[in-house]
Amino acid sequence: MVKKKACVFISGKGTNLINLIRKSRDYNFPISINLVISNNNNAPGIIYAKKNNIPFLIINTKFRNYEYKILRELKRKRISIICLAGYMKIISRNFIKKFGKVIINIHPSLLPKFKGLNTFSRILQNKEKKTGCTVHYVNEKLDGGNIILKKKFFVNPRDNENELKLKTQKLEYLAFPEAIIRIYRYH
Ligand code: GAR
Repeated sequence: MVKKKACVFISGKGTNLINLIRKSRDYNFPISINLVISNNNNAPGIIYAKKNNIPFLIINTKFRNYEYKILRELKRKRISIICLAGYMKIISRNFIKKFGKVIINIHPSLLPKFKGLNTFSRILQNKEKKTGCTVHYVNEKLDGGNIILKKKFFVNPRDNENELKLKTQKLEYLAFPEAIIRIYRYH
């Protein structure tokens, strides 16, 4: 099987990145992780990429042309899918257009509910009965593109933010790979 080349964007811990790297080692998984991009020099996910010999790029988003630098690298590495895994920067409309290929994101809520930041505290404040995660295509609207899949669980009224996060992330590790398989099923 010829795998599609993927780039994962991260800003933080990178547990979804680690999960995707592990999954990508399966013979039948449709993508290989050929590049990791982070806007955060200290993202622990970068250490994992280094250890696993996966090329990475740290970008400084203070520079106006940083998206061009990323686009150049994506082209050079022939990347055909970007997976946003906890990348806490908005991607510009121009970037989406110029890349012109698949970009997907994972978000820790049942979209369209709770777009944006501080998801878990808002879910608790709202006394939601169910929550979960969503994998969706990225367009120019924040957390707004077409949904590929969602995974849900019932909120326990005693759950705090940390417990919600743990339960959500456990589902994310299933949802992200499943969404990627779904995208390439008929290709
Ligand atoms: C994930 O839970 C992801 O859903 C969230 O950041 C976390 C990254 O965790 N993304 C967003 O909130 C994007 N709006 P990780 O670095 O351990 O994979």
